[in-house]
Amino acid sequence: MDQGAWKALINKQKPFKLAVLVSGRGSNLRAIQENIKKGNLNAIITLVISDRPDALALDYARSEGIEARYIDPAPYKTKLEGTAENRYIEALQKAQPDLIILAGFMRVIKRAFIDAFRGRIINIHPSLLPKYPGLHTHRRAIEAGEKESGCTVHFVNEQVDGGKRIIQARVPIRHNDDEKTLAARVLKKEHEIFSEAIRLISEGKISENNCPDRPIRWI
Ligand code: GRF
Repeated sequence: MDQGAWKALINKQKPFKLAVLVSGRGSNLRAIQENIKKGNLNAIITLVISDRPDALALDYARSEGIEARYIDPAPYKTKLEGTAENRYIEALQKAQPDLIILAGFMRVIKRAFIDAFRGRIINIHPSLLPKYPGLHTHRRAIEAGEKESGCTVHFVNEQVDGGKRIIQARVPIRHNDDEKTLAARVLKKEHEIFSEAIRLISEGKISENNCPDRPIRWI
């Protein structure tokens, strides 16, 4: 067997190291961890970081024996910049993840962070990007009279919710939907496509460089 084939074999067996950034309840984190435990994903979550000390996601991670840290994001409320950004970059550089997962991390990531981990950051967004980047996606989709919505996993670049799309999933919008019912329907799909995108990246099937700017898969 030549060296390249050996490398591929070793990488195949070695679990893909994930660091997950969260701000809240952590249902996406849980879905990923459950897929790992079921053997659907050859990965390991080695670090969870939250910008909120009270995030339920931290409790869940600890209950799973995963290192879980609150890192102070001050002084900004909606972005990660300056000394806070450095604190996050340092913690992640120490952990050396193969991939950084933004799973409901409610802050805009800036250039220094993206440069430090270029091509190795993905995010989930609850809309059919490029429609409805930013906040309140479900309300905006309902108010616009859309017939369908969904979610997107994408690579993270400097544009908010504007990086290359990897997988999208569609759900119908029903006439009696409100934000809550639509969010719940979309969330179920988020839980499917996040792990699937991680799998594709961990198996070398997609990377930011070879990703066309349209989803390579629809669910
Ligand atoms: C998800 O809807 C995600 O798309 C959005 O924030 C929510 C996080 O949910 N960015 P959870 O914390 O993973 O349950």
